[in-house]
Amino acid sequence: MCGIVGYIGKDEIKNILVDGLRELEYRGYDSAGIAVLEKDNIQSFKAIGKLKNLEEKTSNYASKGFGLGIGHTRWATHGKPTELNAHPHLGEFSYVVHNGIIENYQELKKELQAEGVTFLSQTDTEVIVHLFEKFYKELNDPFAAFEKTVETLEGAYAVLLITKADPEKIYFAKNGSPMIVGNDAKGDIYFGSSDAAMLGKATEVIYLADGDYGYTSMEGISLYHDRKTKALSKRPLVGDKVSAQKNGFRFFMEKEIYEQSEVLSDTIMGRVLDNEIKFDELDTNFFDGINDIKICACGTSYNSGLACSYLFERQAKIKTSIEIASEFRYKEPLMSKDTLFVVISQSGETADTLEALKMAKAAGLKTMAICNVDNSSIVRLSDYTLLTRAGIEKGVASTKAFATQVMTMWMLSLYMAQHRNTMSQEEIKAEIDAIRHIPTTVMVEDNLHEKIKRLSKRYLHGHGFFFIGRDLFFPLALEGALKLKEISYLHAEGYPAGEMKHGPIALADSELFTIALMPKNIHYDKIKSNVEELSARDATILAISPLEFDLADDFIKTKHAEHPMSEFFEMMVITQILALEISVRLGNDVDMPRNLAKSVTVE
Ligand code: F6R
Repeated sequence: MCGIVGYIGKDEIKNILVDGLRELEYRGYDSAGIAVLEKDNIQSFKAIGKLKNLEEKTSNYASKGFGLGIGHTRWATHGKPTELNAHPHLGEFSYVVHNGIIENYQELKKELQAEGVTFLSQTDTEVIVHLFEKFYKELNDPFAAFEKTVETLEGAYAVLLITKADPEKIYFAKNGSPMIVGNDAKGDIYFGSSDAAMLGKATEVIYLADGDYGYTSMEGISLYHDRKTKALSKRPLVGDKVSAQKNGFRFFMEKEIYEQSEVLSDTIMGRVLDNEIKFDELDTNFFDGINDIKICACGTSYNSGLACSYLFERQAKIKTSIEIASEFRYKEPLMSKDTLFVVISQSGETADTLEALKMAKAAGLKTMAICNVDNSSIVRLSDYTLLTRAGIEKGVASTKAFATQVMTMWMLSLYMAQHRNTMSQEEIKAEIDAIRHIPTTVMVEDNLHEKIKRLSKRYLHGHGFFFIGRDLFFPLALEGALKLKEISYLHAEGYPAGEMKHGPIALADSELFTIALMPKNIHYDKIKSNVEELSARDATILAISPLEFDLADDFIKTKHAEHPMSEFFEMMVITQILALEISVRLGNDVDMPRNLAKSVTVE
């Protein structure tokens, strides 16, 4: 989704802006642009497509001495991905970049047009710069004009504005979309819609809150909220830029699949003791008054939640339901205060999930976030957070985030089981042993990867894929199908195996590829007969199982694990690599698949 960067200082501005945008590329975008202000001269460049197009356009340009600039990667919402619609948007003497959606832009645009303003783009963003210039002409005070502009906007926004009327400042505002401002030891100022853009540059940062606005110059950061000055609460920016690079892998997604062993070790660190699960994040009265759980999430995070809803009911014996956040928001849901509301999100910024969380909070529910990004909007709003500790995930198709979400909630399930006395000490101990083994289970062996790579060439055509599984392996089937369709653009569905005969089996023929998840520890005989039914209709079967299966056209043999979750994690890796290798053979952009964004901050 859209990314924002900004800089004030003496270093070469274009390079700093483009470097920052490159760190945000993984979020997905379809055009990019920058504007640089030196004294009273503004230069702006825009290009559709990848950042390299912008770099080509700016190759003959470099700033000299003190100046400031703003940059943006746009993922089209209002108006097509064209150069005119790309940010920064200009007025007569100012430029603006914006993430989010201005909900009242149509009425504002009409008013401005009636006053003679000409709009160049189809975006909601352009109203911001024209409003600012109109108020500046009325008030003759850039800050007062910006403040009034912000007060006029409705909706979600993170905004940076530069203007020749005040050429040494960047004006900023945040409401509903993330924005961070920071500085380095020299006092140079940096902005980013994520701290990834600022790693290695800013040394201390402020995570702006909704309703914050202000301006920065070399004299420092002036922060306001509700027309009053607000104290700055700076935090050190820690993080390692190198870790965000590909480390020799072909794609970030591949690197992230291989990283799962390491990050899962981080996820369990300090939380899995010899005989118990411990979460320092949860206080002892965490469960007071809780009778059931509602999980809410989108996409991959929904799939991890669905898998863990089986665990919550089976292990902790707590009634659990799950909803897709975009549906939950508008169904006029009934909520009761004895429900723990759990939201799951890799980014912590997904608009639908965030709104669902706000609804639950407004209804007085206790809330918990399972999230990968500390200080994200979802984390800041939730009463409790369990961080998944996956590290920066750059591949748009989520892999290690899913793995760490499942692990975190498996531990949470056992933590609740301890508290509710629904499992014996021996049973908990057996789970702990299984958890400790998972980082080994997900290590990718060379011969497994090679086998999947070879198999992948047989799955590049056909009229679709069915990933099927039962119980915990149904959500894994959903996730396997989602991964494949995201990066291969082939049609894939996840189905509960027992549902096939209720309709989907009508599609079965030799050109229908079935990826059958056949663990030995959960309902093996049942899934086997479902797969036999498909085989009888000539569907092409790729079986993934520790047990030989004669009717399979292709077979990936898994280990004879004694715990269903070990089988779950092993099959998860196989489906991830299968999607990766099919996508590679089809020549697709694995890390930045078409039409997708990493962080979906609009509904
Ligand atoms: C799929 C994927 C998406 C996200 C979804 C929710 O690979 O990444 O389906 O899971 O957009 O995003 P988060 O988890 O950031 O809330």
